[in-house]
Amino acid sequence: MVAAAALLSLQRAAAQSAAARGDWFATIKAHDAMIAKSFEALMTSERRTQLQRERLIAVTGYQLTAHSVAEENVIYPALAMVGMTAESDRLYLDQAHAKVMNGQLELAVGTNRAGSTWTEPARALQTAVLEHAKEDEAAQLYPQLQQKLTPEQNALLTAGYQREFASVKPRRG
Ligand SMILES: [Fe+2]
Repeated sequence: MVAAAALLSLQRAAAQSAAARGDWFATIKAHDAMIAKSFEALMTSERRTQLQRERLIAVTGYQLTAHSVAEENVIYPALAMVGMTAESDRLYLDQAHAKVMNGQLELAVGTNRAGSTWTEPARALQTAVLEHAKEDEAAQLYPQLQQKLTPEQNALLTAGYQREFASVKPRRG
């Protein structure tokens, strides 16, 4: 869909400029904002066609997957490495639950052509993802992690996060 694609490329540009400044935390905050906007577009999609809604869900799903792969392969291991093991474990579990919710949403939207039952799983996923990102990661754990690491380690995390995010490709549709 043209609007979703334009939104996606604008948001990607914002995320890339944060990444260019060499700060994994700034990049993650830009990606969190991108994901929040995609959920907003999805949740205000009542009057869209089924196909448009499926595409918005595909865009949101792609962003969530790319972001979670990068966090799970690079950021959560770093949390464990600096001794924040319980916190790291909890974030992995949160994102595993988010993947379950995303699967439920995709099943709901794929099997309900009348379009009435997708909103509940979408809202549940939106709330879980945004709370996890805002209240746990951005407000508490990531500032602590950034402080505990050397500049060289932070630079490695930035490069690793970008590499892993880019390894997930957008779905065609
Ligand atoms: Fe996360």
